[in-house]
Amino acid sequence: MHSEINDVAWAQIESLSFLHSHLSSHGKLPWKSSQDVLKVGRSTSLIARPSPTVHGYSDESKPEILPIPRSEGDILSSPHLKAFTLDRLKKATKNFHPSSLIGEGGFGYVYKGWIEGHRYIGDTEPQKGMVVAVKKLKPEGFQGHKEWLSELNYLGQLSHPNLVKLIGYCLEGDSRLLVYEYMPNGSLEDHLFQKTAQPLSWATRIKIAIATARGLSFLHDKQQIIYRDFKAANILLDLEFNAKLSDFGLAKAGPTGDHSHVSTQVLGTHGYAAPEYIATGRLTSRCDVYSFGVVLLELLSGRHAVDKTKSRMEHVLVDWAKPYLGDRRKLFRIMDTRLEGQYPQRAAYTVAILALQCICEAKIRPQMSEVLTTLENLPVRPSASPSRADDQKSMTSPMREKV
Ligand SMILES: Nc1ncnc2c1ncn2[C@@H]1O[C@H](COP(=O)(O)OP(=O)(O)O)[C@@H](O)[C@H]1O
Ligand SMILES: [Mg+2]
Repeated sequence: MHSEINDVAWAQIESLSFLHSHLSSHGKLPWKSSQDVLKVGRSTSLIARPSPTVHGYSDESKPEILPIPRSEGDILSSPHLKAFTLDRLKKATKNFHPSSLIGEGGFGYVYKGWIEGHRYIGDTEPQKGMVVAVKKLKPEGFQGHKEWLSELNYLGQLSHPNLVKLIGYCLEGDSRLLVYEYMPNGSLEDHLFQKTAQPLSWATRIKIAIATARGLSFLHDKQQIIYRDFKAANILLDLEFNAKLSDFGLAKAGPTGDHSHVSTQVLGTHGYAAPEYIATGRLTSRCDVYSFGVVLLELLSGRHAVDKTKSRMEHVLVDWAKPYLGDRRKLFRIMDTRLEGQYPQRAAYTVAILALQCICEAKIRPQMSEVLTTLENLPVRPSASPSRADDQKSMTSPMREKV
C-alpha cells in the first residue's frame, strides 16, 4: 500500500517537498497514529485552489452561503466567525486542563469550555455565556495550519442541521484553535466502541445513519464538497442523538466542468478510505459513499473499521463482513451482539445490502442522495423510538419480518 500511496503523493503539488524529505530520510510516510494513518503531509499552498463554483442552497436553516474556497484574508475576516484571543480560550478551558479534555483526533486536542459573556447568534434568551468545544491543534501536527484553515473555510460558512456549528477561531503566534458548538453526547465512535457506553438501539443507529447521509448529500449535491474523512469519530451527537458532521480539515472542493475527479494527496483514515482513492489519489464524491458504507457496517456490527485486537482475518471490517452482507440467513453473524437481537430483520438486511453497494466498485456505488432515500424509506415499525429504554418498553421479543 505504501508504494501505491507514494506514487500518488509524488504527483501532488501540495506536499511534494515534505513527503520527499520524509521518504528519503525515513523510507516511509510519516503516519501520525494507527487511527489516522493516511493523514499525512504538509501543505505549503494554503487555500490556493481553483476558482470556486458556488451554488446557492436552500435548506431548513437557510443560511447565506459564501463562495468556497476563499482567500485566507477573507476567511479570517468572515462576519460569521468570531476571533477569540488565546487568553479568553485559556480562561474558558481552565488553561487547557486535562480535566477539560473531551477528545483527541489526528490533529488536535478538544476541550470543553465555558465562554463568559458570549452567546449563540440568534439566542433570544439572556445567557451569561455558552458551553463550547475548543480544538487546539497539536504543535507537532503535520497538516497544522492547512487543516485549521480548511475547517474555517468550509465549516465557517456552511450552515446545516447535520453539520456542527463553528463559532470562531484563534490565531496567535503558533497557536491555532477552533471554537465549536459543544456536542454533549460526544462522537459516534465513543458510543459504538467504548465498552462502558450504553449500547445504541437500532432506532438510534438508523437515526444517525439518516442524519449523516443528509449531511453528506447536502455537501455533495448543494455545495460540491467532498468531505474526505467520514468516520465514526467525526460524527458528533447532541443530547437527542441528532448527528452532525464535524472535522472539515480534509474537505475538498469537488471537480468542476468536465472533470470527473480532483487529484489530491491521499489523505483520510485507514479502513474508511476508498481503495481506488488510495491507489490513484483521484478523489470523487463516491469516496465519501465508500466511507459511509464502512460506517453503516460499524453501525450494524458494533465493530471498528480496523481492529487489530481481532484475529488477522477480522482486522479489516469490510473484508470480514462482506461475505455475510448479501445473505439474509448469515447476516445475524455480523450483527452487533449488544443489540441483543432487538432489530428488525428486514430493515437490517436492507441496510446490509446498502452497505454492500456503498463499498463496491466506485462506478456502481449509489449517490448519497440515493443512499439517503433508501434509509429514509426503511420499513419501520410504527412505535420506533430513538432510545433503547423506549425500545425495551415497547418490545417483548426480537423484531421480526414486521418491519
Ligand atoms: N464540538 C464538539 N463537541 C464535543 N466533542 C467534540 C467536538 N468536536 C470534537 N469533539 C471530540 O474530539 C474528537 C476529535 O475532534 P476532531 O474535530 O475530529 O479532531 P481532529 O481534527 O484532530 O481529528 C472527536 O472525535 C470528539 O470526540
Ligand atoms: Mg477527526
